[in-house]
Amino acid sequence: MTANTDLETIERDLLARVGAANDEATLEALRVEALGKQGSISALMKNLGSMSPEERKEFGPKLNGLKDRVTEAIVVKKATLAEAALDAQLKAEAVDVTLPPVKPRSGTIHPVSQVMEELAQIFGEMGFSVEEGPDIETDFNNFTALNFPPKHPARETHDTFFMDAKDERGERKVLRTHTSPVQVRTMLKQKPPIRMICMGRTFRKDSDATHTPMFHQIEGLVIDETSTMADLKSVLIAAIKAYFEVDDVKLRFRPHHFPFTEPSAEVDVGCDRSGGQIKIGAGDDWLEILGSGMVHPNVLANCGIDPEKYQGYAFGMGIDRLAMLKYGMNDLRAFFDADTRWLKHYGFSPYLLPGLAQGVG
Ligand code: DAH
Repeated sequence: MTANTDLETIERDLLARVGAANDEATLEALRVEALGKQGSISALMKNLGSMSPEERKEFGPKLNGLKDRVTEAIVVKKATLAEAALDAQLKAEAVDVTLPPVKPRSGTIHPVSQVMEELAQIFGEMGFSVEEGPDIETDFNNFTALNFPPKHPARETHDTFFMDAKDERGERKVLRTHTSPVQVRTMLKQKPPIRMICMGRTFRKDSDATHTPMFHQIEGLVIDETSTMADLKSVLIAAIKAYFEVDDVKLRFRPHHFPFTEPSAEVDVGCDRSGGQIKIGAGDDWLEILGSGMVHPNVLANCGIDPEKYQGYAFGMGIDRLAMLKYGMNDLRAFFDADTRWLKHYGFSPYLLPGLAQGVG
C-alpha cells in the first residue's frame, strides 16, 4: 500500500535528519516541521478523520508508531546535544591550576577608615546608632542652635572657613568646624530617646604636625529622661578601654567650658611618655582626648526638645588623634598626603574588618 511506503519513507527521512542535526536550533526546527501544529505528521493525523473505518484501523496505529519513534529520536538527540554542549563549556572554562596565583591587591584601608570602623563597632555594641550630616553646614546648625551667641568670640576660636553661598536665613554657610551640628540635625528630626554617634570630616584654618585644615571627629549624643554625667563617664571609660584594648585606663574629667554643654568637662586619659613615645593606660602623665558635658537646656530648646522633661550628655573626640595614639603615627599631615608608601605601611588589610569578637585592633 502506497500509504505504508510513504510512511516508511517519511520515517527514514526524518530519522536521518534528526541523526544529522548537530545543534539544538536545527533539531527544534525539525521538531516543529514534523510534529508542530502545521507539521507533516500532524497533517497526516488530521487525514485520519476522512478515512474509512478499515483504513483508519490499519493506518492509525502505524501513524502513531511513527509519531512516537520520531518524538523519541528527537528527545534522545536533544539530550545528547545538551551533554555535548556542557562538555564543550567545561572544557573551555577549565581552570589551569598550574598557573601562578593572581597578584594580591595592593590597596589598604586608611587608618582613619579603620578607626571609624572600630568606633562604630564599639559604640554600636553599646546601643548607639550612626547618624550623618553634610560637610557644608548652616551657621544655625554649626553655631546658633548650639548656643554660640551671635557675634560671640567663641565663633572666632573655631577658625571657620566661611562659604560665599548663603543659607535660607541669609547667613553665609560654613565648612562645619565640628561634628556637633549633627546633634542638632538629629534632635530636629527625631524625638527622644536619642542615642547616636556621628563621624566625619571637620574643617578649621589650622596646620602643623598635629593639625590639618581638614580632620575627623566623632560626636556622641544621648537624650532621654534620666541620663546623667555618671552615665557619660561609664560609657566613655568603656569605649576608651575597648578602643585602646587595655584594661586599666584612667580617665580624668576636668571642668571646662563649651557653649553647648553645662556642666562641661574635658577628658584626659592616663599615659606614659617616658620612652619618647606615648603609651596609653599606664604611667602618671595625662593626655587630653575629648570634650563632653550635659547638653545645655538652650540647645534642647533650640532643637524643639523640652528641657524640663528631657536631659542628656554629649561628647566629641578627634578621630585622627585617636588613630595616631593607637597606631603610632606622629605626623598628622602624612594622613592626607596620599603617599602610597605611607599607606602601605600604616594601612590595614581589607580582609581584616574590626569586630568585637576578634578584637578591634
Ligand atoms: N565640638 C567640640 C569641639 O570640636 C567638641 C565637643 C565638646 C563636643 C563637648 C561635644 C561636647 O559634644 O559635649 O571642640
